[in-house]
Amino acid sequence: MKLRLVLALLLSVFVFQFCTSTKKAVSVATITYQKDILPIMQARCTPCHFPEQGKKKFLDTYGATRDNIDDILARVQLPVTDEKFMPFKSKKAPLSDSLIMVIKEWKLKGMPEG
Ligand code: HEC
Repeated sequence: MKLRLVLALLLSVFVFQFCTSTKKAVSVATITYQKDILPIMQARCTPCHFPEQGKKKFLDTYGATRDNIDDILARVQLPVTDEKFMPFKSKKAPLSDSLIMVIKEWKLKGMPEG
């Protein structure tokens, strides 16, 4: 009787672990606008491209980011001295290679909104 209980317990722990680890794997693999892209844009493209203070083309929504993705990716990868480089005149820190990879990967996966 006791052994059965222990076995049942072990089994449920195993199943629980398995479920939570697959969930984690999925959320790490899926790059979404809400979870990953918007925070990058908020950190690096404000205030210029966000309403209230921004005066440049607004890039504050999913639609605007999706529609301008090629221009966004092209500009953040220009040499920092290029006049079209973004963030404009490096007023915000340039995007690291890994952040650029996140955006590229998002585009590649069909730009899920999340
Ligand atoms: C300090 C203000 C500033 C910041 C920060 C900034 N930009 Fe810009 N952005 C500008 C200015 C000024 C222009 C217009 C000049 C030009 O077209 O090169 C511009 C133009 C653009 C355009 C072309 C829009 C059009 O008119 O069609 C894109 C795309 C863009 N920026 C993307 C970004 C992205 C992505 C970021 C963040 C990684 C960013 N910018 C950060 C000031 C900024």
